[in-house]
Amino acid sequence: MTAIEYVRGLFGQEDDILTGVRQSIVDRDMPAISVSPEVGTFLTMLVKMNGAKNVLEIGALGGYSGICLARGLGEDGTLTSLELEAEYAELAHENLKKAGFGDKVQYRLGEALTSLEQLGAEGAKFDLFFIDADKVNYLNYYNWALKLANPGALIVGDNVLQSGRVFDPENNAENTLAIRAFNEQIATDDRVDSMLLPIGDGLSVTRVK
Ligand SMILES: C[S@@+](CC[C@H](N)C(=O)[O-])C[C@H]1O[C@@H](n2cnc3c(N)ncnc32)[C@H](O)[C@@H]1O
Repeated sequence: MTAIEYVRGLFGQEDDILTGVRQSIVDRDMPAISVSPEVGTFLTMLVKMNGAKNVLEIGALGGYSGICLARGLGEDGTLTSLELEAEYAELAHENLKKAGFGDKVQYRLGEALTSLEQLGAEGAKFDLFFIDADKVNYLNYYNWALKLANPGALIVGDNVLQSGRVFDPENNAENTLAIRAFNEQIATDDRVDSMLLPIGDGLSVTRVK
């Protein structure tokens, strides 16, 4: 057994709602790339620990991480979720409704960078960001998150170990280079405190000072 399997066995138990989300993704032939169960558990904890009221998710897919984030919100909390594919956002919304969070979530369709520009123009501010879309734009999403962040906000990034490719010096694929640059930025940026946790496919947690 690996360390991650041990962690998952203890802290990554899925309930029927989350199992149903995974199944709905398979049923629609969508990519099975939701966050891992233990990352889902930790997302709920992070929202609660930070007392986050307004959460921004970049990459909705079928709503798995959206439900985990929404589970951490208080009564007046909101989730804004950015998604490129209309069909995915539709399923995510359906699943959030089933989980009891239909009225807490708003989806914005299209390129996330365009939605982020719009949110910036609207003066929107967030307490927690979850970055889980196209890897080549992680640094761009991070820079937008810094612009839209309330003090003390958390910026969380998924897949930051890229199944180990990120620390393989021989691997210089586009996604690997992009995530390596993202990790190096959050590790050295004076405006934030950061840590990379080896759960799931690697989860970065950054706190804006
Ligand atoms: C890894 S999946 C998200 C999984 C989801 N966070 C979860 O765990 O339930 C990545 C998602 O990002 C979306 N995406 C990819 N590129 C995007 C872009 N440029 N703008 C907005 N969404 C994008 C994909 O359509 C896909 O649904």
